[in-house]
Amino acid sequence: MSVSNQNLALKRTVPVFVRPRTDAFLVKCANYLNFVETYLASMNVQNPYLRVLDSGAETEVLRNGKTLIMLGSNNYLGLSTHPVVVKAVKKAIDIYGTGCCSSRPLAGTTSLHVELEKELAEFKSAEASLLFSTGYMTMMGTICALAGENDVIFSDQLNHASIIDGIKLAKAQIRVFRHSDMAHLEELLAACDPEANKLIVTDGVFSMKGDLANLPEIKNLADRYGAWIMIDDAHGSGVMGENGRGVAEHFGLEGEIDLVCCTFSKVFGTVGGAVAARRDVIEFLKFNSRPFVFTASLPPSVVATVLASLRVLKGSPHLLRNLRKNAQILKDGLTALGFPVMATPTPIIPIPLGNDEKVFRLAWALEDEGVFVNPIVPPAVSAESSLIRVTAMATHTEEELEFALDRFKLVGRRLGLI
Ligand SMILES: Cc1ncc(COP(=O)(O)O)c(C=O)c1O
Repeated sequence: MSVSNQNLALKRTVPVFVRPRTDAFLVKCANYLNFVETYLASMNVQNPYLRVLDSGAETEVLRNGKTLIMLGSNNYLGLSTHPVVVKAVKKAIDIYGTGCCSSRPLAGTTSLHVELEKELAEFKSAEASLLFSTGYMTMMGTICALAGENDVIFSDQLNHASIIDGIKLAKAQIRVFRHSDMAHLEELLAACDPEANKLIVTDGVFSMKGDLANLPEIKNLADRYGAWIMIDDAHGSGVMGENGRGVAEHFGLEGEIDLVCCTFSKVFGTVGGAVAARRDVIEFLKFNSRPFVFTASLPPSVVATVLASLRVLKGSPHLLRNLRKNAQILKDGLTALGFPVMATPTPIIPIPLGNDEKVFRLAWALEDEGVFVNPIVPPAVSAESSLIRVTAMATHTEEELEFALDRFKLVGRRLGLI
């Protein structure tokens, strides 16, 4: 037998096991799609998510060739299309091109990144700040770098997913306190090992309900129990406080919160985020936060957007005044119409309807009549808290708001909601 024939004989004697390809993943997807289809069909509505827009995040948007009044954007001050901001972005592209093509620690730090970190630290009354590529990564990257298995994190029940996922990644011990229930927080702090490292984490503005964390009481408890505080000020930065410096400014606690995080996807009109803290903490995060180290740096055009937005914000107090005025017009108007509007100190105006079907029907009917609003159902809120989330912008005109309120009246009556 030749050598090659010997090999062939050998191969034939070795049994070959071919495992059937698992279809469990496909079954999972199919079950989900089936669930969604059945669920929407039971209410006779279409899926209201991922609606495609053909224009920027302005007060009027284009969809399917139709103009809609936008009451669902977090572009609170209208900065994403502000001419000064847009000009700065174009200039940055001319100088730096479209991206850094590297992570921050390697070749992804430009003088713009450093400039923004300095200005944001000043804005947040902190020694230093650090940029992340999204707001989500900011929360996650801060928590998972600082906390570990032996540390205890006290987290508000309604905190954003980025906080919850950061705690999971940190494998820290978690104690969830009932939403803004300070007595419950104290109970949990008191029951904790006094020697344990403790971190209280809370949204500054709760994004779905539009209410604020009780920061003064959280600070009081943190001081008494030796805990650190981290706030996710995604919706407070640029919005709350006399100068828009955030929830800490609103409560007179600037410079007293250990870790202040913000996102650039709301007021700052783009994408990204930052944490502001003591210099030594920021230096530690630069080399220990995996979501900072192991991802591409923010493109200079994005950094230029935030820098320009921040400067416009600081130099245009009328924008904040307009935002507050417009939010009040919407709150008063919707309340007068008979909608169950939740009172909030923010431009987020929740209309809880307690039932997904009512929420979807109202959202679609408003779209048909020329108004875009966000339907919020589980898992973003609990099952009984489904709501329509309306947000005001500084740049809405009175005519736009009047039109929207008129459509709310029409549709609310037609659906028997008011
Ligand atoms: C409270 C809160 N935290 C964090 C995030 C995440 O920020 P980003 O979307 O900029 O990643 C969001 C945005 O959805 C948010 O509302």
